[in-house]
Amino acid sequence: MNNCVLVTGGAGYIGSHVVKELRRQGYQPLVYDNLSAGHRWAIREDELIEGDLGNKRHVEEILRKEKPLAVIHCAGSIVVSESVERPEFYFRNNVINTFNLLEAMLACDVKSFIFSSSAAVYGKPHQVPIPEDHPLSPVNPYGESKVFVEKALRWYEEAHSLRYISLRYFNAAGADPEGELGEAHNPETHLIPLILAVAAGKRPFVEIYGTDYDTPDGTCIRDYIHVIDLAQAHILSLGALLNGTTSRVYNLGNQRGFSVREVVDCAHMVTGHSIPVRESSRRQGDPPVLVASSERIKKELGWKPHYGDLKTILETAWGWMKEGKRR
Ligand SMILES: NC(=O)c1ccc[n+]([C@@H]2O[C@H](COP(=O)([O-])OP(=O)(O)OC[C@H]3O[C@@H](n4cnc5c(N)ncnc54)[C@H](O)[C@@H]3O)[C@@H](O)[C@H]2O)c1
Repeated sequence: MNNCVLVTGGAGYIGSHVVKELRRQGYQPLVYDNLSAGHRWAIREDELIEGDLGNKRHVEEILRKEKPLAVIHCAGSIVVSESVERPEFYFRNNVINTFNLLEAMLACDVKSFIFSSSAAVYGKPHQVPIPEDHPLSPVNPYGESKVFVEKALRWYEEAHSLRYISLRYFNAAGADPEGELGEAHNPETHLIPLILAVAAGKRPFVEIYGTDYDTPDGTCIRDYIHVIDLAQAHILSLGALLNGTTSRVYNLGNQRGFSVREVVDCAHMVTGHSIPVRESSRRQGDPPVLVASSERIKKELGWKPHYGDLKTILETAWGWMKEGKRR
């Protein structure tokens, strides 16, 4: 039986953890990645097809040959500040290239799709925890690019019966507890690896953007979700699609927020190293609090986070930073 699942962006941070989990569950993952931000060490050479989603003919050729059961679409450009400076690049890579992929899928009769969406679709929420039916009001081109795709998916479903699950991740963090995979973005813009780089002596301090928010300690609050719990949600979503579920949208977070200062304090406890901070002014477009309601995926797919507490998230990320095996 063909058990192939195509994972775009599978050499990246989240995609590589999804690929490992797919393998563990008996699927045959195949990675489609241009390695613009992904890493060869994060995947097996025989599972990689090097290619760019801008090349629709190539994508179609691969889909026709491999006939995957589904496509998990993790590829994309992810730096919010860059998206503000270069919106055209973000709309090309995150929207047009996704449409290329969807058209190639339809041409090859591949009709199950899992999409890496983001909490950025909500912008500045007026309700926390944020439910999936909260209005979508992104405040940067990155978030807008995810909204474009989500809106289009509905019409692909109506016209072509393409079924999809859109997963709106909150702040992905942590690393493979076996130490094979972890976060290695370049440039790194995510708080936890930046804090741990300070603990490891690779950076002099952590920048805190804004200490005058209306939160208990004045710093922004975010919902951190372990990358393994995210990977599990993809497996459950895949199972649901293969069992014929209708299209869905799910938030993925732990329903618990931590302020920047709380993350710094917890990282100090986990690493035993001091973590100097530098306080700066607020960044444009940073909502004070982003916390997910993930009740829907728990209820409908039985998803349950296993690495939910911040200490475990930091311990696995620290383990990776200190002694991760980059093959
Ligand atoms: N990391 C997070 O906290 C987070 C939160 C919300 C949503 N997301 C979404 O999850 C997805 C994965 O994020 P990540 O942190 O793993 O990012 P990442 O940069 O580590 O991985 C993205 C991968 O996509 C590949 N890629 C980019 N453009 C491509 C193209 N045109 N053709 C082929 N491959 C291409 C890159 O080489 C990279 O391997 C992204 O879509 C991102 O928007 C991430």
